[in-house]
Amino acid sequence: MTDASINSLNEQTRAAWNANSQIWDERMGDEGNDFHQTLIRPSTQRLLNLQPGQKILDVGCGNGLTSRWLASLGAQVLGIDFAEEMIINACKRTKPDETSVKFQVLDATDETALLRLGENSFDAAVSTMALMDMAQIDPLMRSLAKLLRPKGCFVFSVCHPCFNHVGASMLAETSDVEGKLVTEYSIKVKSYLEPSSISGLAVENQPQPHIYFHRPLHLLLSSAFHFGFVLDGLEEPAFPTQDPAQTNSFGGWNNYNQIPPVFVARLRSGER
Ligand SMILES: C[S@@+](CC[C@H](N)C(=O)[O-])C[C@H]1O[C@@H](n2cnc3c(N)ncnc32)[C@H](O)[C@@H]1O
Repeated sequence: MTDASINSLNEQTRAAWNANSQIWDERMGDEGNDFHQTLIRPSTQRLLNLQPGQKILDVGCGNGLTSRWLASLGAQVLGIDFAEEMIINACKRTKPDETSVKFQVLDATDETALLRLGENSFDAAVSTMALMDMAQIDPLMRSLAKLLRPKGCFVFSVCHPCFNHVGASMLAETSDVEGKLVTEYSIKVKSYLEPSSISGLAVENQPQPHIYFHRPLHLLLSSAFHFGFVLDGLEEPAFPTQDPAQTNSFGGWNNYNQIPPVFVARLRSGER
């Protein structure tokens, strides 16, 4: 892809997230949805192994729900997002006494802007469900290798690149088994290996579809490996079996307890 087409996709993505910021903020609130609650936060907390006072960069912070959560656990957090409207909502939701969390409009595909945050400035970085929304991830990985202190970690969650992307559909097949209706749920994967950028929805009724940047696992991770990271932690959480407490209406992932809708990984930077 040329630089001009990447820039154009990046600007379309920014416009979509600005347009969707209100509905996103209303749906996510302070605590997020069942993906955050049941899947992402427990895995992120285990992989991050946060120590009080650590400085954390939250990349693609949205309305700041992960930044505020990490600050409540004792971290000093900077949340960045390129959608100005998201950052306005993040600031609105942050109480005056939450002084250990700050927000900044910053494009994570802009290496020069990222490096202005300062080399060796962060103990760790997180990114919750945002890398698959970014037009490019190489500038971020290259920058994080410098922004993180030696042996710092980057914990990210994304829609699972194998099972939860625009090339996969959710199937429910009901059959009569000896007089009893039985429904079996499965995922049909139509494409995987080819990276793609295709419009999709993050929440029902969002005003503007946004672009999903599908990257198969080898491309997602090779970007990090190229800049000296190693993968040293991995979780693939799924919803528990038919848990009636799960209210996720978008996709009904609670029917797929053997299939993880998210991929949560810890990358460790090398010595410098
Ligand atoms: C699915 S939302 C997740 C928000 C938040 N992390 C959460 O879990 O609620 C993805 C976020 O990534 C942000 N994003 C996408 N591309 C970005 C970029 N190049 N730089 C910074 N933020 C970006 C979007 O603006 C959006 O807020």
